Amino acid sequence: MTTDLPTTAARTVEFISLSHLNPSTELAPVPTRGIDLDYFRRYVATLEESGYDYTLLPYGSSSADSFVVASAVGQLTERLRPIVAVRPNTAFPLVVAQQLATLDQLTEGRAVVHLISGGNDAEQARQGDYLPKSRRYARTSEFVDLLRRAWTETAPFDHDGEFYRFEGFGPGFRPYGDTIPISIGGQSDEAFEIGGRQADVFSFWGEPLADIRAQIERVHAIADAAGRPRQRIWVTFRPIIDRTDQLAWRKAYGYAEKIGATFREGSFHKRHVIAGGTPQNVGSQRALDFAARSEVYDRALWTRTAAVTNAGGASTALVGTPETVAAAIVDYIDVGADLVSIRGYDTLADAADYGRNVLPLVRQELAHRAATGRRGTLQAENPGALAPGFDADALAGVR
Ligand SMILES: Cc1cc2nc3c(=O)[nH]c(=O)nc-3n(C[C@H](O)[C@H](O)[C@H](O)COP(=O)(O)O)c2cc1C
Repeated sequence: MTTDLPTTAARTVEFISLSHLNPSTELAPVPTRGIDLDYFRRYVATLEESGYDYTLLPYGSSSADSFVVASAVGQLTERLRPIVAVRPNTAFPLVVAQQLATLDQLTEGRAVVHLISGGNDAEQARQGDYLPKSRRYARTSEFVDLLRRAWTETAPFDHDGEFYRFEGFGPGFRPYGDTIPISIGGQSDEAFEIGGRQADVFSFWGEPLADIRAQIERVHAIADAAGRPRQRIWVTFRPIIDRTDQLAWRKAYGYAEKIGATFREGSFHKRHVIAGGTPQNVGSQRALDFAARSEVYDRALWTRTAAVTNAGGASTALVGTPETVAAAIVDYIDVGADLVSIRGYDTLADAADYGRNVLPLVRQELAHRAATGRRGTLQAENPGALAPGFDADALAGVR
């Protein structure tokens, strides 16, 4: 069958959304850092009902503990898979292996781990970690090996490595299935080396298509050279959608103003972000660099939200109608992304909105491709910023 699909195009997609524990957002901060149980229950129920596949439980020194929250997600849902963000400095690898295997059994095989080596020295020092970043990645590498051995070795074993040493461990508590997927977050050279050789999933924040394409090729080339299966690719966006492109761009400009004010006032709790200055993690440096070069890329990528937040955390937006944003997501699927994380700035309402209006369009396009071997009309009919004469300022009404 002839096809107009690129060879890189992923054939399946799964959706992720980070879980929020309370209604505080960058748009409308409320002075709480605690868990609002009713809100959290509604949040994860909305993700499950709206057809998301995974939810990320992030980790920071002042945040709720990601493992405990992941366990709650497991009990509050039946299908949604918790992705636990873990910093290797926070616990001995065999203990993390045991926690993950326990979560996997409690959720009948739904656990995923996202390893964060640590992108900021001051944040690492808050919990007693004084290793420089390049060494933190070497530690992550040893950590990954030990997770997998703890899950699979059938007899007791010893280990005498650079960062960890023990004797007579095992056999460890086993996951529900054979193993648990390991994702790596980070964009530095060391992140690519370790992710390319050891990860099952490699994750990105939203970057222009050409850059993501090059980054995917880079990590896959490392996997190929190491004789490892290629990683699944995770890409993260903060979509801003509305009924028309014009309404969406107006909304986006209004959001950037509010979010910028929130960050300037320091009223949203993210200490390592609001500290300002050049971020130490490469992912944020790249986002700021893209933002400095252009506000709009490709069909719908918008960088002002990164610029006004010093790119602390996932911040690049996709702006437009649900159709335009769905088409933009398919653009990333075309270059090989098959795990798409979307979380709005109006967190709970957006999760439901994307579930109703964006996820089905992306899935419909992939179903069409599976049945016919050809593209559907979604991308051609919704050019967004690729349309001749596109002008975001004019659409937003500032010119
Ligand atoms: C999808 C994704 C999720 C992330 N989640 C977290 C998180 O929960 N906590 C955190 O401190 N860093 C998180 N990070 C940030 C990086 O993983 C982190 O800064 C990295 O250790 C160092 O970055 P670098 O290799 O880009 O310099 C995340 C990154 C990505 C791409």
